[in-house]
Amino acid sequence: PVIHVLNGPNLNLLGVREPDIYGRDTLADIEQSCIKAAAKVEGGATVVFRQTNHEGVLVDWIQEAREGADALIINPAAYGHTSVALHDALKTLSIPVIELHLSNPAAREAFRHHSYVSSAATGVIAGFGAAGYELAVQAALIKVRERG
Ligand code: DQA
Repeated sequence: PVIHVLNGPNLNLLGVREPDIYGRDTLADIEQSCIKAAAKVEGGATVVFRQTNHEGVLVDWIQEAREGADALIINPAAYGHTSVALHDALKTLSIPVIELHLSNPAAREAFRHHSYVSSAATGVIAGFGAAGYELAVQAALIKVRERG
């Protein structure tokens, strides 16, 4: 299977950005852990890992996942709280979609409590830091397997 992992704004600064909230791992470290988690499954899985600070680029990448991706993991970062465009783009997909956050937005400021992505996602993983990415890869592969 092919799993697309999309990362939204400011996640390029992981490791130096508010490390008390987001941890010390960089996005490059996290990419490696996703690749490792995917390699552990029988037959292996391919990870396509990307980050952008631009909402429209995320929309383009979600549309790209319509061809060739078996599952999509997205950390929409702040756009999760603001973007109807991401919601609409995700709704066009028929593959499993996992929304992912390093922190637990429900336990933070009120403006982080609503997500436009959740209602278009198969499931949500939040609050487990960098380990959440590995959990999301596992969850994506469980869903892909279920679909046969
Ligand atoms: C985040 C949570 C969002 O509220 C925030 O805007 C981010 C990161 C997370 O991974 O915890 O940029 O998506």
